[in-house]
Amino acid sequence: IMCNNGCILPVEGFLQGLRDLCTEYGITLIFDEVITGFRMGLGGAQTYFGITPDLSIFAKALASGYPLSAIVGKKEWMSLIEQSKVIHAGTMNSSNATVAAALATIKVLQQENPYQRMFSLGKQLMQGLQETAKKYHHKMLVQGPGPMFNIAFTEQAEIQDYRDTFITDKQLLGRFIAGMHRKGIRIIGRGLWYISAAHTEDDIKQAIKTADEVLLEMQNK
Ligand SMILES: Cc1ncc(COP(=O)(O)O)c(C=O)c1O
Repeated sequence: IMCNNGCILPVEGFLQGLRDLCTEYGITLIFDEVITGFRMGLGGAQTYFGITPDLSIFAKALASGYPLSAIVGKKEWMSLIEQSKVIHAGTMNSSNATVAAALATIKVLQQENPYQRMFSLGKQLMQGLQETAKKYHHKMLVQGPGPMFNIAFTEQAEIQDYRDTFITDKQLLGRFIAGMHRKGIRIIGRGLWYISAAHTEDDIKQAIKTADEVLLEMQNK
């Protein structure tokens, strides 16, 4: 999922096609799960889509905000590190506190299984933003799977590739985001939203109410 470029979902067959090509030509298939990991589910986007890469990288939600990243993969590739054929050196490797944070995060995610709720809250927020924008005649596109999604001011019905991200009104997005920030809702500057396991229905309602105020102000200016 191209989270940093409009939250573009892979088209049907794309990931399987990549898997097949990489297997055929002996190429390592690597999934960047830095954003999708522990957000789409405990098994990341690869479990969600049912495609297994050779290597993947995880970070961000893995340790609930503690600075940690991880590279994981099939034994065939990871054993190269074990055999010291590939160097995996880093000052912060195996930092106890961040690894403890990741273990605690995974434990809570396993116990609480918040994923259905995160998808549902995400969809609720996406729909609320869409309806509010429509009410004030703003052409706001909201797209993504739910636990993460993107907003863009554009006439397009969908952002399908990187090129489409250029046909969006970044100035209008900037005004919306600044308005939200002023009223205490923090959104990432490029229009990306995340739902976390800690979010509640009240948070969603507050975000929609605030978006309503900001979109109204934008209409009047
Ligand atoms: C999807 C994705 N991959 C990789 C990275 C890079 O991570 P880092 O800043 O740790 O190099 C980011 C950073 O935000 C990201 O969003």
